[in-house]
Amino acid sequence: MLDIQKIRADFPILSEKVNGKPLIYFDNGATSQKPQVVIDAEAKYYQEINANIHRGVHTLSQLATDAYEISRVKLQHHINAKFSHEVLFTSGTTHGINLVANGFASILKPGDEVLVSSLEHHSNIVPWQMLCEKTGAVLKVIPINEEGELIISEYESLLSEKTKIVTVNHISNALGVINPVKEMIAKAHAVGAAVLIDGAQAVPHLKPDVQDLDCDFYAFSGHKMCGPTGTGILYGKEAWLNKLPPYQGGGEMIKEVTFEKTTYADLPHKFEAGTPNIAGGIVLGTAVDYLNEVGFGNIQLQEKKLLEHATKRLLEIEGLRIYGNGKNKASVVSFNIDGIHPYDIGSIIDKLGIAVRTGHHCAQPIMNFFCIPGTIRASFSFYNTKEEIDEMVEAVKKAKTMLS
Ligand code: ALA
Repeated sequence: MLDIQKIRADFPILSEKVNGKPLIYFDNGATSQKPQVVIDAEAKYYQEINANIHRGVHTLSQLATDAYEISRVKLQHHINAKFSHEVLFTSGTTHGINLVANGFASILKPGDEVLVSSLEHHSNIVPWQMLCEKTGAVLKVIPINEEGELIISEYESLLSEKTKIVTVNHISNALGVINPVKEMIAKAHAVGAAVLIDGAQAVPHLKPDVQDLDCDFYAFSGHKMCGPTGTGILYGKEAWLNKLPPYQGGGEMIKEVTFEKTTYADLPHKFEAGTPNIAGGIVLGTAVDYLNEVGFGNIQLQEKKLLEHATKRLLEIEGLRIYGNGKNKASVVSFNIDGIHPYDIGSIIDKLGIAVRTGHHCAQPIMNFFCIPGTIRASFSFYNTKEEIDEMVEAVKKAKTMLS
């Protein structure tokens, strides 16, 4: 059992006031808050070992390089990748997805198919549309049902030998639905298609095992898992990363450069051109250590309680509808109240110190499916409490009264 008050004391921002009220932070799906150890580790890097990596013979450069590579190995173990060179540092999930989509431009032929799901964030739709425009491949979409779940029988009928890559999120950012990715990966592999999993919303809640999932690529961001913004990881199976061309040209990603021909560095450097977010990459390792210390079992237990409590309490409000009611859900509640624009509720409860996200959540196709402009999304983390949820429910009731 977690001592929530002790955990909350790790996060300085949770003692702040917003609009004169104690902050209630329910926008964890957008970005998580950061514990003091993460904040301190970032400062410590700049105070003690700041230098460019993989470049200097001098001591600081060596210390920074070692710290960066140790973090890579930490991330490798965290996701159970077979090799550390399968773990690429990126600026976030969007970067990782674009890297893969760009690489597939050299693989796809006109008429090939790319399969995306209806539950995707724009960052896992637009790069594939751009790829299809470039190559003449066709984008196909896996539909959802009224509960916001992917219809697996439809997925099966969309798969064929034309399918070259399937791309789906592990957990939907807009609805919190957990997708049956392991089963979907096996089905894609049966027709010879590769699979990319967008793990941005999953990594704060669970520890993905990329070998067990058998995914070809798994992309995620550091900032949603207590790490710094501008950090992320793209996992790719060695064979795929060797097959894909580099994404960006520049320093560090080469073996030899002449004006006639450049040869590329081995993995992972082939995909890591330019000076990266060194501090961020190192501190992402600190964030992962912190989460593992809290323990994902504990995190899931706490978040399950929060989800159940929020669902029950919110449904007491007449005219309130929750979107995404499947059996497998992360601690996200996306809802609307009849006749009231989500933005109006979000603005009123913000005045009461409660942070939620309102709008289409960068997932317009889901909003179009439900014929709504957007939702109010409360996304909970293990450091949230039932009391905070009760406060939100009272605030939403107050807003409803004001707006009715
Ligand atoms: N993708 C983030 C969200 O869902 C920003 O809010």
